[in-house]
Amino acid sequence: MQPTLAPQNVPLLDLNAQNGSIQNEWSAAIETVTSKSQFALGPAVRRFEQSFADYVGVDHAIGVNNGTSALQLALQACDVGPGDEVITTPHTWISTSWAISYVGAKPVYVDIDPTTYNINPELVAAAITPKTKAILPVHLYGQACDLEPLLSLAEQHGLTLIEDAAQAHGAYYQGKRVGSHGRVGCFSFYPGKNLGAFGEAGGVVTSDQAVADRVRRLRDHAQDGRHNHVEIGYNARMEGIQGAVLDVKLRYLDEWNAARRRHAARLRELLEGAAGLQLPAVDSADSHVWHLFVVLVDGQLRTTLREDLANRGVATGVHYPTLVPFQPAYAHLGYQRGDFPVAESVASRCVSLPMYSELTDEQLWYVAAQVRDCLGGAKSAAA
Ligand SMILES: Cc1ncc(COP(=O)(O)O)c(C=O)c1O
Repeated sequence: MQPTLAPQNVPLLDLNAQNGSIQNEWSAAIETVTSKSQFALGPAVRRFEQSFADYVGVDHAIGVNNGTSALQLALQACDVGPGDEVITTPHTWISTSWAISYVGAKPVYVDIDPTTYNINPELVAAAITPKTKAILPVHLYGQACDLEPLLSLAEQHGLTLIEDAAQAHGAYYQGKRVGSHGRVGCFSFYPGKNLGAFGEAGGVVTSDQAVADRVRRLRDHAQDGRHNHVEIGYNARMEGIQGAVLDVKLRYLDEWNAARRRHAARLRELLEGAAGLQLPAVDSADSHVWHLFVVLVDGQLRTTLREDLANRGVATGVHYPTLVPFQPAYAHLGYQRGDFPVAESVASRCVSLPMYSELTDEQLWYVAAQVRDCLGGAKSAAA
């Protein structure tokens, strides 16, 4: 039976709901770190690194200070630098490109797939030049990229494949977790991610011993033994408290991701056929971890839909309104409107609806009913 639709506030994400459910565990873990003053790296970070490497299915995980550093250090450890090109997606959070720029390489963008919104492997093939050194796909919104063609291109052309898995903790591709397919995988543990710290944190995963050793050194002032700095390094260490919290939360990740999958299926069911709304593609392998639930609406309707939903207590977001190559910071690369027809269309129409593991069935009903109601009252520009 349909629950009553009492007005409610549904945030885009509710971190307190999740943290409150396991408070005893994380507070005890934090207490251990603080009582021993193990604030930077230390045993809690080492424990988390081991558990996370086992979880992803790789030999090494290296805890760093955020996901942007994870990408930068991974690229550097794979010898990507000045004069190199890295092929990536225009439709992502800007950090993917920052990291390429930080190491002195040039981002080269190709358009996305219209179904998954991930990088289009066919266009990657066409963008490879003698300067190409790496491919950096992003598993956007929690869904794995089509890695097989990317991996075979990398092998054919001697390129490094680095996965940006910042939005896809626990997602699978062909039975293996994302992050374990390329030479290196990079994660963000920013608080709002599927696996989120209590502050900034990130991680690099790899089964390549040389890459692991170099990232481990680079994050800690490039020390090879105390006070022996073998190259220009960084302070990119993970904090002890973040390692402790992440080690606790990792035990719940699969359960939380399963809840997200159920919510996504429910939202799809409740929103099916709503006028002017394009739902995210069904994941037949059920390996999507639904970091975000993104629908597409007619560009003219997006602003009014978001305003109407906000007035009814339903928060929404836009991930992302402007493609990275069209950001002022990347104007010098010279990309033009029309270069990425699919990504430009998605960027102009995407709306993120509330998605987190603690959503209740009543909230899901409420969100879907409000979306339907708002769209029903709206006039499509195409109508
Ligand atoms: C796809 C993607 N890459 C990289 C990052 C960077 O992670 P952080 O914010 O931890 O630096 C994020 C985080 O928002 C992301 O979503």
